[in-house]
Amino acid sequence: MKRFLSICLAVLALQLSAFAQDRAGVVCGPYLQNVTTNSFTVMWETDMDAVAWVEIAPDGDDHWYNRGRQRFNEDSGCGLLPIGRLHKVVVSGLEPGTTYRYRIMMRGVKQYMGPGNVSYTRESGSDVFRRNPFRVSTLKEDYDSVSFVVMNDLHEKDSLLRVLLNACSRTPDFVVYNGDMTSTLMDEGKIASCYMHTTSEVLAGSVPLFVFRGNHEFRGRSAILWPKHFSSATNKPYTAFRYGDFFFIGLDSGEDKPDNDIEYSGLYDTLPYLREEAEWLKTVLESEDCRSASARIVFSHIPPSAKGWQGNRNVRELFVPLLNKAGIDLMICGHEHRFRIEEAGSESSGATFPIWVNKNVERLEVSLCKDATIVLRSFDTDGRQTHAKSFGR
Ligand SMILES: [Fe+2]
Repeated sequence: MKRFLSICLAVLALQLSAFAQDRAGVVCGPYLQNVTTNSFTVMWETDMDAVAWVEIAPDGDDHWYNRGRQRFNEDSGCGLLPIGRLHKVVVSGLEPGTTYRYRIMMRGVKQYMGPGNVSYTRESGSDVFRRNPFRVSTLKEDYDSVSFVVMNDLHEKDSLLRVLLNACSRTPDFVVYNGDMTSTLMDEGKIASCYMHTTSEVLAGSVPLFVFRGNHEFRGRSAILWPKHFSSATNKPYTAFRYGDFFFIGLDSGEDKPDNDIEYSGLYDTLPYLREEAEWLKTVLESEDCRSASARIVFSHIPPSAKGWQGNRNVRELFVPLLNKAGIDLMICGHEHRFRIEEAGSESSGATFPIWVNKNVERLEVSLCKDATIVLRSFDTDGRQTHAKSFGR
């Protein structure tokens, strides 16, 4: 009885605190996902249930409050505006290579008592009075060069992530997290607290971010919720995207041990999923977007290897034969917490392309130029360049 009463009091306290809150706050975000030539997706997380939207304006020096701005609602509810804490708004119908201003907006939901009887907080949103609105540029149709940054295996070292991100030698066209940003997702809140809060602050809602799954993102009670924190063209943890002539594929390389390993508690069935991904990969590699590209780069958390663990073997057997046929220029991996380069044609990887395995807690900066080489440089948290190499195409 005592236990029942204390649960009732806790629930009541929770409801009262939600009722007392006069506006929804931002826990994490905004961050940019799936930026294309005519659209972009904004995601963020609020500290209470809310209905959310994004307003956009053309770039310019007129004040945000110069006029009413175009509004885009969350559209995942098939006509019904979703109520939740994690928000994903797609802004579409834009011009290529064009900069827009935007702000995120929300209205906290205090109580949903019934149809026509919903109690809200005041509206709130990102500050456009004392601060500039966020800025985003849609992708151009063509790029002479592209630069991007890759990090992996941070394993919840949020303060080091901040150091690495802040030290980028220039603003990259996009940032890639290539797996194992957390160690175990027992609590969904770790996605924000261990890396996405910092990421959102440093990238300021303006640099596109791609987050690919490592084996550790499969682990923990809340791991099942990880995919909904990110958005891609496929709505899956694997995707492909293009910057002008440059084509990129982000793979989900799965877990590292066999599905029936005792550490997985009978909760894994990754092989059918990886086979489905391989079917998707085949289609992507045959697409005109991939075939006509002047460079093709693949991200995979786990590197391929014949005699490594099951995860290495999966990548080698399911993905590498398809990638070999498609003229891939480079694969970028992590997972091993050490740096190494596997040259093209190695028997172990089975790959006809080189593989750069990026060390944990290091920032890899990559630049691509049309008809030129791929230049890679990695840096540690003290800003020292640790490795550099160029690959011809
Ligand atoms: Fe890993």
